Amino acid sequence: MALLAAIALSSFVLMSSPTGDLAISSIKVVSSNARRYPNKKQDLAFVHFNITADLTPLFHWNTKQLFLYLEAEYTNSQGVKNEVVIWDRIVRRKEDAFIKFVGKNKYMFRDPSSSFRNIPPANYSLKYNVMPYVGVLTYGEAARTSEAISFPPTQSRL
Ligand SMILES: *[C@@H]1O[C@H](CO)[C@@H](O)[C@H](O)[C@H]1NC(C)=O
Ligand SMILES: *[C@@H]1O[C@H](CO)[C@@H](O)[C@H](O)[C@H]1NC(C)=O
Repeated sequence: MALLAAIALSSFVLMSSPTGDLAISSIKVVSSNARRYPNKKQDLAFVHFNITADLTPLFHWNTKQLFLYLEAEYTNSQGVKNEVVIWDRIVRRKEDAFIKFVGKNKYMFRDPSSSFRNIPPANYSLKYNVMPYVGVLTYGEAARTSEAISFPPTQSRL
């Protein structure tokens, strides 16, 4: 047990912070029919982004894999803070830990109120979990937008 604790502790010490860049290139909000309720409209947000991040410092002998994810953080019109994962990736090898990705959200991004109208600007952050062979998960942040970004007005889908 003491040995396991020592190993887990040493992986904290070995951990150095990765650096990354996150840019949101555009956001589009379109109105669409809700899947289960064809008469109900809901807004879907499409967030286009560009990530570059060097996560290689997170790989050492006790790193099994990384879970990397992009989160939208916003306060809804009721004042409730939401954190929504809109994209993710599992990184299993150090060779794959230099991340370059240009694209859009992988998961549907909508607000429970069905609309992004009146929702204040959102921040976006690139976060990671390190899953070790031994010890506990650790969390960190590789990048975040420097200022909050507004949701544009809803377009109707063509
Ligand atoms: C993505 O970001 C990197 C680093 O900030 C930049 O060099 C590159 O040109 C960007 N690519 C696109 C397609 O925006
Ligand atoms: C976005 O980030 C800014 C600066 O860190 C902060 O003041 C603001 O409260 C954040 N907004 C949300 C919705 O998290």
